[in-house]
Amino acid sequence: MAETFLKFSFPINPLLKLIEIKHDSLSSSIGKIKVPNPIGVAAGLDKNYKTSINYLNFGFGFAVTGTILSHQNFGNPKPRLFRDFDNKSIVNSLGFPSEGLNTIKKKFSNLEIEEKRIFASISGLKIDEIIRCLEELSPFVAGIELNISSPNTQGLKNFHNLKNLDKLLNALNKNKTKPLIVKLPPSIEDPNNLIEMVKCVQDSGSEGVVISNSHPVQDSKLSIGFGGLSGKPIYEHTLKMVSRVRKIVNNDFTIIGSGGITTTKDVWKLIASGANAVQIYSGVVYEGPFIASKINKNLKNIFISNKISSVKELFCSEAPFPSND
Ligand SMILES: Cc1cc2nc3c(=O)[nH]c(=O)nc-3n(C[C@H](O)[C@H](O)[C@H](O)COP(=O)(O)O)c2cc1C
Repeated sequence: MAETFLKFSFPINPLLKLIEIKHDSLSSSIGKIKVPNPIGVAAGLDKNYKTSINYLNFGFGFAVTGTILSHQNFGNPKPRLFRDFDNKSIVNSLGFPSEGLNTIKKKFSNLEIEEKRIFASISGLKIDEIIRCLEELSPFVAGIELNISSPNTQGLKNFHNLKNLDKLLNALNKNKTKPLIVKLPPSIEDPNNLIEMVKCVQDSGSEGVVISNSHPVQDSKLSIGFGGLSGKPIYEHTLKMVSRVRKIVNNDFTIIGSGGITTTKDVWKLIASGANAVQIYSGVVYEGPFIASKINKNLKNIFISNKISSVKELFCSEAPFPSND
């Protein structure tokens, strides 16, 4: 229902413009790409590129498409998605349902989207398939987000091996024409593995990382018996790993926080710990499409009342969230 509403929301777009929170203090950058605010739509909310642009009208600073494969894919059998309202979380095992490269490319080419701050999320099990997605989608988008971290597609784990990751990233960086951001797994059991992967991403010449994807869980309600946990319960891990990773990379390497973000305080703490931007999925499901606009408005007001000039000043400052806000 939400997708249909967003698809046909264009008559209200001029109204949305009126309530958009625009303020210089909110601007940030993802590599060399300037974004008007640090809050993005996470990959997967818009599986087949129907609504991303309309999310921008709701005040998001950028949006990532659902992961695109070189071929059409129907994903895992149902049941494959549950919400836990009490915990504000979601478990899914969708397994990349995708209309595939050719169909999505046609949708892209009908619009001038580069200036619209859209990132294409790409993946695949073979390096040449992923290179094809990168080459054919790059002309249309601001940047590419490589997804090697979905817990619902078994073969992707091959790329968590550092040798395989290095080979993939070298090939992609040789062929890229747009910034490349790599979405990493949360590596809950072995956080050092995440640190090693980040070093590999930085050494390969990629522009940054997303930390991280949903957390692998077993769940007998899902037809395949396992999936990924998203939403509130995973926030503390996101924060801990962003903070750890920022300490080992230089400040012009981009870190995007993803996982459990729902409040202004969540965003504040991530930016203060070293995230350049954040992405939200479950928060949009539970709080609604105005979540970015609400957080941006709060951030702007807190900056003013606490004499903080901007997101750029907050970045890596370790400034605590003002307790009365
Ligand atoms: C139903 C569903 C589908 C998703 N699809 C994708 C996807 O296609 N590609 C991807 O990189 N991440 C995907 N994700 C992961 C989200 O982008 C995000 O990283 C994760 O949900 C954690 O953020 P959140 O706690 O704000 O939801 C999906 C998540 C959910 C719940």
